[in-house]
Amino acid sequence: MSAPKILCISGPSLQLLGTREPEIYGRETLEEIHARLKARAKELGATIDCRQSNHEGEIVDWIGAAKKKKYDGILLNAAAYTHTSIAIFDALKAIAPLPCVEVHLSNPEAREAYRARSRIARACVAKVSGFGGDSYALALDGLVRYLRAR
Ligand code: DQA
Repeated sequence: MSAPKILCISGPSLQLLGTREPEIYGRETLEEIHARLKARAKELGATIDCRQSNHEGEIVDWIGAAKKKKYDGILLNAAAYTHTSIAIFDALKAIAPLPCVEVHLSNPEAREAYRARSRIARACVAKVSGFGGDSYALALDGLVRYLRAR
């Protein structure tokens, strides 16, 4: 695969990164993370489109359109929907085998018990969590390697 086309989706309240519980999520804003991803994608010879939504249905729409829009893979931080959304799980299954990597800034398994269960993990090829904004960049590296090895 020459230039993988990646879609990065961030879910609810991640537009508030930078000021949202910085002791958990760090001080980097989502805009800064997106800028970092774009720069890294360029180095990797890939392209990336980055979006954020607070609305489950909009995220489902974006996932559902990913094949038609010719994306090769998805990075998804579904935020709180990770733990609740069968709709997002079903949307990811519906676009198989287009690969998705689950991303989290924090390490949900090390936090409250209700964050330990991911509803979407079984529809993802991999997960990167606990590295703050670096989780996104590490997930991008992994996804591009995965796509090129496939
Ligand atoms: C999160 C972890 C989720 O449990 C939480 O609801 C979020 C952010 C993370 O990136 O660490 O909103 O996905």
